[in-house]
Amino acid sequence: MPLDLVKPDLARLPAFVDALARGWSPDNVRGAEAARELLERARADPQGLVESFDDPTARGGDIVLPDGSRVERLPGFHRWLWDGDFCGVIGFRWRPGSAELPAHVLGHIGYAVPPWKRGRGYATLALARLLPEVRDLGLPWVELTTDPDNLPSQAVILGNGGRLVARFAKGAAYGGGESLRYRIDLV
Ligand SMILES: CC(C)(COP(=O)(O)OP(=O)(O)OC[C@H]1O[C@@H](n2cnc3c(N)ncnc32)[C@H](O)[C@@H]1OP(=O)(O)O)[C@@H](O)C(=O)NCCC(=O)NCCS
Repeated sequence: MPLDLVKPDLARLPAFVDALARGWSPDNVRGAEAARELLERARADPQGLVESFDDPTARGGDIVLPDGSRVERLPGFHRWLWDGDFCGVIGFRWRPGSAELPAHVLGHIGYAVPPWKRGRGYATLALARLLPEVRDLGLPWVELTTDPDNLPSQAVILGNGGRLVARFAKGAAYGGGESLRYRIDLV
């Protein structure tokens, strides 16, 4: 089955939960801790969890950064990668009316594919599919950030026309460290 980007829904939730139960985390920053929280929310309030993945009005409350500090949530939404089974997430967040992001936000778009679904072009295709949707929101460009040693993620960005615009130090809330900022022009 070809790859689709789908809105998270209850029918597909068991496949997402299964990926979490296999030890995968969709959260590239908070890792296993975030996976545990998601498993708990899927058990306690599956409908609420699914709805939280589509949040264009930022009703979901503050975001907790890795050092425990809290920042205001931006509007955003997630899509699941689906090839007949769950194969990852791609998420987008933005400041409506602007392409600029607050300094603590590491890019407009993030994605993660479980190890057993990698290397099939899924993340590259998912980003390609998301970009027209983002352009329709009026953004002239999007930014994505990745660590210098994350070669697969850099390949995904470059495969979608990304160009490196900056090397920068991640904020203290992320433990510092060097990161790369790429821009993909949409107009
Ligand atoms: C980054 C990630 C989403 C890629 O998912 P994927 O579906 O396997 O990606 P694709 O198959 O679309 O493309 C992977 C690219 O990385 C390349 N790649 C894979 N391993 C590589 C390596 N060790 N060195 C260099 N390139 C590598 C592949 O060749 C491919 O590039 P190509 O299309 O130019 O051949 C996945 O590895 C992942 O979930 N990683 C952990 C989470 C993460 O890092 N997310 C991004 C945060 S910025």
